[in-house]
Amino acid sequence: MDKKCMVIYYSWSGNTRFAAETIAKKAGAPTFEIKAETPYNSDFNKCCDEAKPECYGKKLRPIKSIEGLDLAKYDLVFVGSPNWWGTMVPLPDARRRRNAARGQGVR
Ligand SMILES: Cc1cc2nc3c(=O)[nH]c(=O)nc-3n(C[C@H](O)[C@H](O)[C@H](O)COP(=O)(O)O)c2cc1C
Repeated sequence: MDKKCMVIYYSWSGNTRFAAETIAKKAGAPTFEIKAETPYNSDFNKCCDEAKPECYGKKLRPIKSIEGLDLAKYDLVFVGSPNWWGTMVPLPDARRRRNAARGQGVR
């Protein structure tokens, strides 16, 4: 591929990581894994209890630093996330983070 690609993802149980690494290998792209400062519980039901209010826009979980991640350097950025309640996990959701930083809530 002649485009400069990057794969950024969040994965709770490993499926998205596998997909991200597969895409990265094919595209010759680096990967960046987004991690929560406090990881979601590894028990499915407990994870659901923690994650539901976040997916429904009630709050936003802090993520580990993404300093050094310069997306402007890439022509194409793949963003990978599991499907949680029919939508992406809020961790890599830049729009919600930007709104929260601007004091406009997390929607
Ligand atoms: C909190 C939570 C909510 C989920 N909600 C959905 C859903 O609404 N629809 C769906 O098809 N799968 C749902 N899943 C299943 C995940 O999308 C699926 O297992 C995915 O492959 C996990 O990716 P990961 O291994 O990268 O974490 C949910 C999983 C979790 C943990």
